[in-house]
Amino acid sequence: MEIAKSLQQTPSSYIREILAAASDKNVISLAGGLPDEKTFPIDLMKPTLETLSEMPEVFQYGATAGYTPLLNFLTDYFQLPDTHIAMACTGSQQGLDLIARAYVNPGDKVVMEAPSYLGAMQVFGLVQADIVTVPQTEFGPDIEALRTVFYEQSPKMFYAVPDFHNPTGVCWSLETRKQVAALCEQYNVALIEDAPYRELRFSGEAIPLVSDFCPQHSIVLRSFSKIASPGLRVGIVSGKRSYLEPLIKIKQGADLHSSVPMQALLLGLLKHDNFDYHIDTIRTLYKSRYETLYSELQDKLPEGCEIKPVDGGMFVWVTLPSCDTFKLAKELLKDGVAVVPSPVFYPQPEAAKAALRLNFTNATPTELAEAVSRLASGLAKAI
Ligand SMILES: Cc1ncc(COP(=O)(O)O)c(C=O)c1O
Repeated sequence: MEIAKSLQQTPSSYIREILAAASDKNVISLAGGLPDEKTFPIDLMKPTLETLSEMPEVFQYGATAGYTPLLNFLTDYFQLPDTHIAMACTGSQQGLDLIARAYVNPGDKVVMEAPSYLGAMQVFGLVQADIVTVPQTEFGPDIEALRTVFYEQSPKMFYAVPDFHNPTGVCWSLETRKQVAALCEQYNVALIEDAPYRELRFSGEAIPLVSDFCPQHSIVLRSFSKIASPGLRVGIVSGKRSYLEPLIKIKQGADLHSSVPMQALLLGLLKHDNFDYHIDTIRTLYKSRYETLYSELQDKLPEGCEIKPVDGGMFVWVTLPSCDTFKLAKELLKDGVAVVPSPVFYPQPEAAKAALRLNFTNATPTELAEAVSRLASGLAKAI
């Protein structure tokens, strides 16, 4: 049977190949975006897991928008405006898919920073969006480039990861957030704010969401994959009612609703007295791993390679002198370290600047140090 044209245009995922090769036990993988499974708060889930066995109602079909007690709790927890509603999805990735299917016609323009999250490029690619990119600076998207794209191309939406971006780790400044929100309002562009790394801040206070400055022009995606467990597959989409209702309609056709027992489990976890402490613990752990990776890179990277410090998230972005990063990543894999080459994060891979994404949350400090030694000697040979 012939596959759909939209799928024929989707390139096979290089990242799947690299992740498969990275499972070899002689390879240290900095390629994935995995939280450390030792951090999963299973002890904090145990009381709810026991209670669930006495709640047959959560094993029944449920409401498409989600488990009402969880949605009520989160409306408060995220301090959603009165005009907004929340919907539970099967991971925030499903939220993204529903947004694309509900709003994007083939050829509609969707703006993203370049580089950008691979999963978003896949989702928008499948609905045949015309993906337009703007360059990213250390403060967030290049505002003048964004203004020009909004003015000249009238895009439908701007997809963004303002907190500890995947793949670069950049966290947008407050000023940039306000400017982007003002542009979205001025040019009537919907902001899709994807915030899975927001809670993984290493120091200081959270910066307001971009959506806080344009609440009527935005949809926010939240994930519990990085602070609880990705296997729960619970994410939350929120926005004004008229933005959310079409998503609920699409979700009904997609999977009726997300798993109610998993939503009830997440609710128990969020209400647990020690959940905040749990988040502090992972922040401290990931910060120390980041510091190990960063100082090893500073000591060992050959000349011409550059890194910028990050203040949270899961990734460091290493820029390189111009080279074939696919070939480099394959050579590095033979040397026992897996990394992701920059072109996979660009809708037009040929426009990619040479760089590598390194993850620091799923390797021990000893592994991180060894991985950097392997990386540095591989780079010294290649560039
Ligand atoms: C930017 C971004 N958005 C969304 C997701 C998907 O997260 P979830 O597990 O909630 O589906 C990821 C996962 O790595 C991500 O990096």
